[in-house]
This record gives sequence, C-alpha cells and structure tokens, in this order.
Amino acid sequence: MRMPLIAGNWKMHLTLHEAVELAKAVAAAAEQYSDREVLLYPTFLQFTRVQEAVSGTKVLLGAQNCSAEKDGAFTGEISAAQLRDAGAQYVLIGHSERRHILGEKDDFLKKKIDRVLEQNLKPMLCVGETLSEREAGRAKEVVLNQLLAALQHLHENEWRQITIAYEPVWAIGTGKNATPEDAQRMHSTIRSKISALCPSVAHTVRILYGGSVKPDNIAALMAMPDIDGVLVGGASLKAESFIAILRDAVV
Ligand code: 13P
Repeated sequence: MRMPLIAGNWKMHLTLHEAVELAKAVAAAAEQYSDREVLLYPTFLQFTRVQEAVSGTKVLLGAQNCSAEKDGAFTGEISAAQLRDAGAQYVLIGHSERRHILGEKDDFLKKKIDRVLEQNLKPMLCVGETLSEREAGRAKEVVLNQLLAALQHLHENEWRQITIAYEPVWAIGTGKNATPEDAQRMHSTIRSKISALCPSVAHTVRILYGGSVKPDNIAALMAMPDIDGVLVGGASLKAESFIAILRDAVV
C-alpha cells in the first residue's frame, strides 16, 4: 500500500508573509488526515521561515531545485547538503520549467539526483512530454527516456528514496488536465519500466500526477490505481483550494 502524497509546488510565488500564513493553514488542516502525507515546496528564500511555521506538524518540506555540484565556487547555487541542513526532506528535480525554460538536460539532472541521494534526501523526479511530442505519438518514449536517463543507474536502496511526478507539459498552468484514464496509462507505463529496472521497488515507488490539479478533478485522479498523489501548482497557492484537494484526495 502506497501512502498518498499531496504536494504543493509554490514556484516563484507568494510573499514571505503569505507563505508563512499558507503553511500554517495547511499544517492545521493536515493534522486531520493520518492516511495521507502533505509536502510543500516553498522558495529557498522562504524555506527557513516556512520550516519554523510547520515545525512539529506533519507537513513535509522540500526544495524546488538544488545544485548539481557538491559545494564550492558556484555563485547563486544551493547545495543538497545545505538543503538538508535547513530541514528539507524532498528535492524537486527536473521540473518542466527547469527543463524547458532554463534548459536543464538529462545528464545534468542525473547529477542532481546523485547529489540529493548522497545527502539522504528524497528526489522527486519530474517527467513529462510537450504537446508537440504528444501529438507526434512520442509521449511514452519521451517520458521513459527522461526516467531512464536520470534513474537507471540507481541501486535498490536508492530507488527506495525516489518519487516520480508525471507532469505533461501541456497540462501545466493551462487548465487542461490529462484525463484520469490518460494519466493512469502513463503511470502504469512508468511503473512497468521501474519494474524492469528494479523489480523489488515497483510496487512501492510513488508516482504523482501534476498539471492543472484542482478540487474538482482530484477525486477522479486519485481513483486511478497507479496515481499515488498529486503535485499541485496554481491551486496550492490558496489555502482554500489546497485544503479542498487534500480533503478529497481519498484513495
Ligand atoms: P499547475 O497545477 O498550476 O498546472 O502546475 C503544475 C505544476 O507544475 C506543479 O509542479
């Protein structure tokens, strides 16, 4: 049985005050649900204050990115070791905005996965096809190539730290979510590939869906057998909508 994971990716949004207030509201609501986990990804700058706000609650915290290097002269970067020191448990790797806007490539993302694992943190690898890749019938190939490039070198104990987020690029911030059946097909394809790479973890690795998740589509998404949670962007920025998603994320 995989524990559902409901994650909010705050991207480059919210003031410090808004972030702290939102975190407190989410933490208060999360206490009611012992059968699901809640994870927030604030910006680096807000991380410590948000961490103080949720300390002692069940809310988990992650960082939206980390350096591919261990430490040293890398101006503007933040290392996995520094994230662990600040209290992060998860690190988002390869979000489509970093792949497509900031040009991060598979080999670079693989290095980040290794840095995160070295610090005993949990990488959440984002994978997903663009609209043109989907229309060309290449969605599965693209997603599986992203998965293989970042993860195929891992050992079983490392695989146990991994979470996957399938986020079709055309569904992010567009209001067009993949249908639950479409998402399920891709999640099942991903799980089969994991099974081929590391059979012992295929039934425990959580695969989240992301892309226009809202209170009105969460129940149908969570009803799918291989959707183990969601990674929410826009709807995670308001307490009301994120808490409604959390409430209705029933397996
Ligand atoms: P939206 O929920 O705004 O579509 O964003 C999804 C996302 O990118 C989460 O990482």
